[in-house]
Amino acid sequence: MRDSPVVVASSTSVARPIADVADESTLIRSTGLVEVDRVLGGGLVPGSVTLVGGEPGIGKSTLMLQLAGAVAEVGQKALYVSGEESASQVRGRADRLGALHDELWLVAETVLPHILAHLDAVDPEVVVIDSVQTLLNPEMTSAPGSVAQVRECAHVLVQEAKRRGIALLLVGHVTKEGTLAGPRVLEHVVDTVLEFDGDRQHGLRLLRASKHRFGPTSEVGLLQMDEMGLAPVDDPSGLFLADRVTGVSGSAVVPTVDGNRPLLVEVQALVAPSQLATPRRSAQGLDQGRLAMLLAVLERRVGLPVSNAEVYALAVGGARILDPGADAGLALAVASSLTGHPLADDLVVVGEVGLGGELRHVSHINRRLSEAARMGFRRAIVPHATGEAPDGLSILRAPTLAAAVQLADVGPS
Ligand code: TYD
Ligand code: MG
Repeated sequence: MRDSPVVVASSTSVARPIADVADESTLIRSTGLVEVDRVLGGGLVPGSVTLVGGEPGIGKSTLMLQLAGAVAEVGQKALYVSGEESASQVRGRADRLGALHDELWLVAETVLPHILAHLDAVDPEVVVIDSVQTLLNPEMTSAPGSVAQVRECAHVLVQEAKRRGIALLLVGHVTKEGTLAGPRVLEHVVDTVLEFDGDRQHGLRLLRASKHRFGPTSEVGLLQMDEMGLAPVDDPSGLFLADRVTGVSGSAVVPTVDGNRPLLVEVQALVAPSQLATPRRSAQGLDQGRLAMLLAVLERRVGLPVSNAEVYALAVGGARILDPGADAGLALAVASSLTGHPLADDLVVVGEVGLGGELRHVSHINRRLSEAARMGFRRAIVPHATGEAPDGLSILRAPTLAAAVQLADVGPS
């Protein structure tokens, strides 16, 4: 029997010097899945509750079954509670995913008191509930999936997880609008919220923490879905640049960082004439507001006539770029599409663009440039204040976006 953490009633609470208080984050245990560990800052904490949200079909059940199998493989007892699929369906999937291990237990169950009985019987260290929307507490009259049921059942399970020192994972379906009654109402009662999404066509999946009590929320996990389930993406830059066609206008390669990881991503822009009073603008994987701002700067500070044109911009391969360091690359892709002059094959562009048209310094510049050099790029347009370049890369310093347009030779001839 493992010791369960002692729950002390508030009337007997004791104030202690802060350094004497146990730091639960030191109890982190690896899940055995590198990309999940990366996002969680090392792994799962006993007694913690993690909500895993994502659209139906994105791969939550697959990820959770692989995780349960991986923790079982290193000897932690795991219990997978399936509320949506039969036990034999889950077993069949576990076979394919290589998740069959002695310490992985499985039950198809949705009734809350029955689940609690299974926790007693199995005494697991890690529990997956798939999904919270299927849970039913018979003492309540409302239907499974209703806010009242989801909230009540999750509340009971959270208490049990804390009391027994179980690392609990709750799967929750979320629609694109994030509205579906359920997971959102749980965000404040759990320790960690993971969001799982991606681009279905490409099989790429992104895992992020939008809330995390035991570590940073800045890391992104990258996984690839294939017939054998989800595999970590070892060379994300290679993946994102795999389909790149060189010598075409409207494309720029940007060394971004996501969390702490450098990532080379191709951004594409297409500028087309418009008859509309308000021309269409579309941004996929990029921030719409940022695109609008860059178009205004190109018009007013660089003198390129884009305000009356339709502009489509996208990050290739299902990447999602939140990094302001991608500004200059996106702006040059727009300029290149407008003038028809492609950027050179061996060139990357990095820098945040200010409203004055200046190119601003960005974080982790060395990591970005080293990744560009590793991927075989030879030149980089960078903000003025950038220091030395890594071996194999020569840098072109641009104080302004206008200077960057000149250096990349994508201005009007
Ligand atoms: P699933 O994990 O069931 O999604 P969710 O639980 O989020 O609803 O997986 C959904 C899709 O993933 C399913 O349509 C098939 C695909 N898939 C694979 O491509 N490879 C695999 O090994 C598995 C298990 C699923
Ligand atoms: Mg599922």
